[in-house]
Amino acid sequence: MPETMTALFGGAGPDWTPRQVPVPAAGPGQIVVRARATALNNADASMLADADPASGGTGKEYRAGYEFAGEVTAVGAGVAAPVVGERVMGTTPGSFAQYVLADHRHVLPVPEGLGYEEACALPTGLLTEHGALMVAGFRPGQSVLITAATSSIGLIGVQIAKALGAGQVIATTRSAAKRDLLVRAGADTVVVTGEQDLTKAVLDATGGQGVDVALDHVGGQTFAACLPAPITGGAVVNVGRLDTAESTIDLDALSYRRLRVAGVSFGFTQPAELGSVIAAAGQTPLAAVAASRVRPLIDTILSFDTSAEAAERLRSHQAHGKIVLLVP
Ligand SMILES: NC(=O)c1ccc[n+]([C@@H]2O[C@H](COP(=O)([O-])OP(=O)(O)OC[C@H]3O[C@@H](n4cnc5c(N)ncnc54)[C@H](OP(=O)(O)O)[C@@H]3O)[C@@H](O)[C@H]2O)c1
Repeated sequence: MPETMTALFGGAGPDWTPRQVPVPAAGPGQIVVRARATALNNADASMLADADPASGGTGKEYRAGYEFAGEVTAVGAGVAAPVVGERVMGTTPGSFAQYVLADHRHVLPVPEGLGYEEACALPTGLLTEHGALMVAGFRPGQSVLITAATSSIGLIGVQIAKALGAGQVIATTRSAAKRDLLVRAGADTVVVTGEQDLTKAVLDATGGQGVDVALDHVGGQTFAACLPAPITGGAVVNVGRLDTAESTIDLDALSYRRLRVAGVSFGFTQPAELGSVIAAAGQTPLAAVAASRVRPLIDTILSFDTSAEAAERLRSHQAHGKIVLLVP
């Protein structure tokens, strides 16, 4: 094992800066992974912007990245699994590095035949979408509405819902051109927002009943439109705020239907709790990955050398799917 490695840092400008730092050592409960590929998330763009001193950011340096895939090179005391040499994919702050230090509970095994470029793009989607479905109390046979279903994690959500036995998946996009993408992912009904009224379209598609579960990635008035869409006693879980975090909602829609409304933000959960969410995603969702029923949509594969291009593509919101960085 080398003594130093390349890692990408934010906080020195609009883009990430490569720096040589010591290779980490695994403490109790931790593992070190030789990362081969890492994937970008919207949170990476927010972190860069918040820290960029040139545009009023904090200028505080931090290790960038969250998702990664590679092979385990060291395990700390008390770690029975994974073992050295095992291929894993996971999430931890500071994943844009040649060697990634992670909590052993925050990785999943990479199924045979799945390359690192795809594996690194899965953990956030798997744990978030499966975790949100569990928070909603989803059961096989139920119907699920997924807004912004063409988003990277929304697409994983459509596939996981079907793999878990959803009776009906209704998926939204703002673009009619993306209808086929959603149908290929397993959506039974596609709602093109802007062309169709979301609430009415959901009620029409469910014979006026409404869905059992709604996973909202958009926020704003889309979240408000989700509230009249479930059955009485159904659940609405806010996962993302691609539009805005503010929403004006009709409390009657919520109260009369006795809805269960929740929000999830797994990046802010305690390590043990996140470990449980990841362990649960390691059951049926991981089996569905192994059976090629769940795949991430990859937009671009770049490298640490072209990370500025990757950051620009992330900020532009032009990507269709995940942006992946190969690790040198
Ligand atoms: N809760 C958690 O733990 C967690 C974890 C990860 C991510 N998130 C959040 O989940 C959301 C999705 O993340 P992602 O990385 O998968 O997103 P992404 O891949 O960047 O999603 C892009 C797609 O979302 C749709 N979209 C973008 N802006 C929109 C808007 N204003 N209104 C409606 N649709 C819009 C567009 O699809 P169309 O053009 O097809 O409409 C776009 O192609 C983000 O808000 C992210 O911060 C939450």
